[in-house]
Amino acid sequence: MTYEMILVEQRGAVTLITLNRPKALNALNSQVLAELSDAFAAFDADPAQHCAVLTGSGEKAFAAGADIKEMADKPAADFFLEDFFSGWQTGVVATRKPWIAAVAGFALGGGCELAMMADFIIAADTAKFGQPEIKLGVAPGMGGSQRLTRAVGKAKAMEMCLTGRMMGAEEAERSGLVSRIVPAADLLEEALKTAAEIAAMPPMAAMVNKEMVNTAFETGLAQGLLTERRMFQILTATQDKMEGMAAFIEKRPGVWQGR
Ligand code: CAA
Repeated sequence: MTYEMILVEQRGAVTLITLNRPKALNALNSQVLAELSDAFAAFDADPAQHCAVLTGSGEKAFAAGADIKEMADKPAADFFLEDFFSGWQTGVVATRKPWIAAVAGFALGGGCELAMMADFIIAADTAKFGQPEIKLGVAPGMGGSQRLTRAVGKAKAMEMCLTGRMMGAEEAERSGLVSRIVPAADLLEEALKTAAEIAAMPPMAAMVNKEMVNTAFETGLAQGLLTERRMFQILTATQDKMEGMAAFIEKRPGVWQGR
């Protein structure tokens, strides 16, 4: 697939995906979704790629939301019949390998929701998160009311959804929405460095750790604890477990097979 709205490059074992519609503040339309779905599927399928970073082009925005111009005249029945926005779940959230959102500037509406689809967010000090859909007469549709509430709790999520107010980087870190804040000029380098660190881990263990933390986010404690034990037990069958434990005992770095 030829990409027009995103850029994809490989930096060693890290795939860097950049939303590339800076004039529209990287607004997310159907083509962006199709291209991102293709890029994430290729990343997942490539045995040499182990972690990805998603970022926005331009300093002003990670993404300013779903494309309002695409939605403005669309009949309601089409939204329903197309199951509009469901593709984000199958095309982006379903990615099995870990990926990081590196957010500078606006992450609003679908942009905030896309960032929250990542396994974690590293924010520039310029980042601003918000769910302003109410001002358009609608509500979040790509997970904002659910993931934001789970991430920052009911009080802040409710206030943000009802008023559309934005949360700056410091509040986002304090509230647990982002893992850490870095100066805007260092954002990409820091995100790529963290991704490279993850990419150097035993790959199956990284995928399982991702799945387990997401299970904690998405299910109850009893189900989560059972899943965690079973996944731990399954990982003990891998060559990388034998290697990792032998390497520890022999005081040397592990060499991973990815199986
Ligand atoms: N969709 C389409 N185009 C958008 C856009 C969006 N979500 N956000 C910005 N743009 C476009 C603008 O229309 C403008 O294009 P033109 O130059 O062709 O007019 C360009 O990007 C630059 O934007 P502004 O001139 O508005 O820039 P600004 O600095 O004055 O304001 C902003 C920046 C506060 C982010 C403002 O652009 C804004 O409020 N954007 C919309 C934010 C929003 O409501 N997002 C939610 C969308 S709905 C949604 O996402 C639903 C969901 O749950 C998935």
